[in-house]
Amino acid sequence: MNSVYCYSFGTPDEASPLRLYGTTPADDVCLPKDVPAPFAKEEITFRLRKRGILLTVPVRDGEQFFGLGLQLKSVAQRGKKKHLRVNSDPTLDLGDSHAPVPFLLSTAGYGLFIDTSRDVILSIATHVKDSFADKKDASLADNTSDLYAERELTGGAHICIEIPAVGGVDLIFFAGPTMKDALMRYNLFSGGGVLPPMWGLGNWYRTWTSSTESDVLAQAKSIREDGIPCDVFGLEPGWQTHAYSCTYVWNKEKYPDVEGMIAKMKDDGFRMNLWTHLYVHPDSPIYREQLPFAGDYRVWGGLVPDLSVPEARESFRRYYEKTFLEAGISGFKVDECDGSDYIRFPWSYPEATDFPSGLDGEQTHNLMGRLFERTLEPAYRAVNRRTFSLIRSSGALAAPMPYVLYSDLYDLKDFIRGVITAGFSGLLWCPEVRQSSTEEELIRRLQTVVLSPLSMINGWMIPHPVWKQFDEAKNKNGELSEDDTLTKRVKAIFELRMTLLPYLYRAYDEYRQTGLPPFRSLAVDYTSDPATYEIDDQYMIGNDLMYAPMLCGRSGREVYFPAGNWYNYFTGEKIEGGKKTAFTVGEDDILLFAKEGALIPTALPVTNVTADTVFILVPKRFGEGTLTCTLTEDDGETFDFLGGKRNDVTLTSSEDGTFSLTRRGGYEGIRYTV
Ligand code: GAL
Repeated sequence: MNSVYCYSFGTPDEASPLRLYGTTPADDVCLPKDVPAPFAKEEITFRLRKRGILLTVPVRDGEQFFGLGLQLKSVAQRGKKKHLRVNSDPTLDLGDSHAPVPFLLSTAGYGLFIDTSRDVILSIATHVKDSFADKKDASLADNTSDLYAERELTGGAHICIEIPAVGGVDLIFFAGPTMKDALMRYNLFSGGGVLPPMWGLGNWYRTWTSSTESDVLAQAKSIREDGIPCDVFGLEPGWQTHAYSCTYVWNKEKYPDVEGMIAKMKDDGFRMNLWTHLYVHPDSPIYREQLPFAGDYRVWGGLVPDLSVPEARESFRRYYEKTFLEAGISGFKVDECDGSDYIRFPWSYPEATDFPSGLDGEQTHNLMGRLFERTLEPAYRAVNRRTFSLIRSSGALAAPMPYVLYSDLYDLKDFIRGVITAGFSGLLWCPEVRQSSTEEELIRRLQTVVLSPLSMINGWMIPHPVWKQFDEAKNKNGELSEDDTLTKRVKAIFELRMTLLPYLYRAYDEYRQTGLPPFRSLAVDYTSDPATYEIDDQYMIGNDLMYAPMLCGRSGREVYFPAGNWYNYFTGEKIEGGKKTAFTVGEDDILLFAKEGALIPTALPVTNVTADTVFILVPKRFGEGTLTCTLTEDDGETFDFLGGKRNDVTLTSSEDGTFSLTRRGGYEGIRYTV
């Protein structure tokens, strides 16, 4: 690929992401060519030490850094020391998360991928070697802030990269010239962004873990009766004969007619998604096949598979394809592939776990989610159906993977930050909603989830839909609300998601073709405006919308608008950019803004998407003159678009109020009318 520079130091580890699962770089025709490397190799220092390797990369004045995968506690990374380590329960801003990725983006216009499956320690402009020796009298400071501030002043800042237990590494630099270009290049290098099936972008509901087949059918029926738009219905652990660890076998007492249930759900317009994880129970049909490759520690009595081994991947692939995909299951929620050792009831396996392949536990922690994503890829191709699925841990080079991260944690502010940080490293994040302590909290959380990569209510802890009762204890007790006020509010929010589906589908298709993430920090689009760098509570959705989420218990907030004119998406009110504006916000109000000149292909909401759905567009104009936007048209479900069965549809809006659609491409169906 053009303008990508790989510098090799020492003897790199064989078990790196690139060497283990590689990539098929997508075309980078959209990006500037022959952009020079940000550094010559000689500017980077490399040392082999007793503990592992130590590298330094120079830092420039005023440069800011982003990335490192999913980071729930901070967005801007300069001045931080981060230990990238997989952990499902991070409590502080230390670098651990469900999906850390050793990829850094710089406002100086480059990206740096550290190709390792080991935990990495990065000190980003925090260490300056021998600084005290340079600065006379530093030891005489009489307070701690002065004492430590001295170190910042001594210059020569660098990123310090430490990787234990290896003798070398490849550093891969992605040139810009802008940070946005560098991010797009990294995602294209990974294979390009994912285009989910259209139904995946609809709304999801996950049912109570103890639900039975008749509960599932009854809930699905009531969702349709209430007119709640819903595309995907998810089952939680209870569908299996044994879930912690997993047998991957249907519990026939609770689900006596699986085939009939899937068919009935399909007729009612629901795709089914199954909860699973990767620790294999001794009663599982694939246990014997996996045993020779497993690690020498167990989790919940199940073996820990090694998906770096082709035979182990093949055994999962074969079983999942036959048992689930061929039966019509649309995808999975791949839980627990992270690990947590720092909570009251720790669970996981040691970093020193030995696997027959030569991998150890530390590497497996970093690779497990990512390798499973790869494992099922050929299965979806075989049935010619795309998936959109959930996973609790992912990692490097993940842009083409149809998986969205989620968490048991529940801080709304952290969840919003997750949408932003995931977008710096080829990841997608769902700020999930469960039961709530107040109705207002439920509404605020829902507003954000429908404006995120995946719109889902995770009802795994409650027997009745959250819109019938948001309070966990009352829901469990069957004390359901007597009127339908909350149902109507939830319906309206879910409908907003459906109105944006054509817009979102296009934003994902751009991700696929250009590597530009559909949900991203303002700093990506406005890198020349440093006021965007620290913003951790607003993000771009596609090229034309900006969202400013409301936290719970607030009646207003300030929103920063980059230079140019902006419009309130709902009221059309014009707002001048280049500054902050304060808003008073009612409980049902959503702070969504459109850029000057935008034409948003808003659609009438449908309850669910099928291959025959035709969206009726009611476009929204923001600005004067003739406005245009482009839509992606295909069957929305299969891989046929790769063979050319897709259209680019141009929607044109004239000032006199007329709209027209023109199509270019090889898809014969029609998905949009005005
Ligand atoms: C958790 C997961 C939850 C739910 C639960 C079921 O680990 O994050 O969303 O699926 O398992 O046991």
